[in-house]
Amino acid sequence: MKRVAVLISGGGSNMLALLRDMVGDHSGRAVFVGSNDPSAPGLVRAAQMGVAVAAVDHRAYGRDRAAFETALLEPILASEPDILCLAGFMRVLTPEFVRRFEGRMLNIHPSLLPKYPGLHTHARALAAGDAEAGCTVHEVTAELDAGPILGQARVPILAGDTEADLSARVLVQEHRLYPAVLRRFASGDRTRLDL
Ligand code: GAR
Repeated sequence: MKRVAVLISGGGSNMLALLRDMVGDHSGRAVFVGSNDPSAPGLVRAAQMGVAVAAVDHRAYGRDRAAFETALLEPILASEPDILCLAGFMRVLTPEFVRRFEGRMLNIHPSLLPKYPGLHTHARALAAGDAEAGCTVHEVTAELDAGPILGQARVPILAGDTEADLSARVLVQEHRLYPAVLRRFASGDRTRLDL
């Protein structure tokens, strides 16, 4: 059984989708949910599901990213994870942190990478006049949003779509894609999944 830790920054809807899927014959079990924001609503939801939670407020460390990560690592390592999932975790991690979890850290990103790494993905897709958008689950490497792609799900962009419309349509697919990819990844299958 693979021990799975999840990092969030906000509502944690993707984290919940992962936790809900980690039952029965799934090769993974959730052991920890962490956040850089103590007020992240997802922490309460994870705790209600019986998972250990901790928050390390990045604002307490100013610009000292390394000190923040050292503090964040403590509860993560205490949970002895085999796999670390970023699920709406909005802090950029240092190469040192990434190296510790090389080959076993996943992220979900709300675009069809390699298009639109970084922020404001839906606004950028709309501004570009794209016909479709989507989400990507990828392995985390030191370069932002650029690791090997493990899965993608696509949605159409419809006439008159707002950023909120598109975000909501993609999020539904995120909740399908991330659990499906983690299920495969935890069982040792790293082949790409397209939904
Ligand atoms: C999700 O849309 C996720 O793809 C995005 O943040 C949202 C978190 O929602 N992640 C990123 O933008 C990472 N750069 P959630 O907290 O409800 O899962």
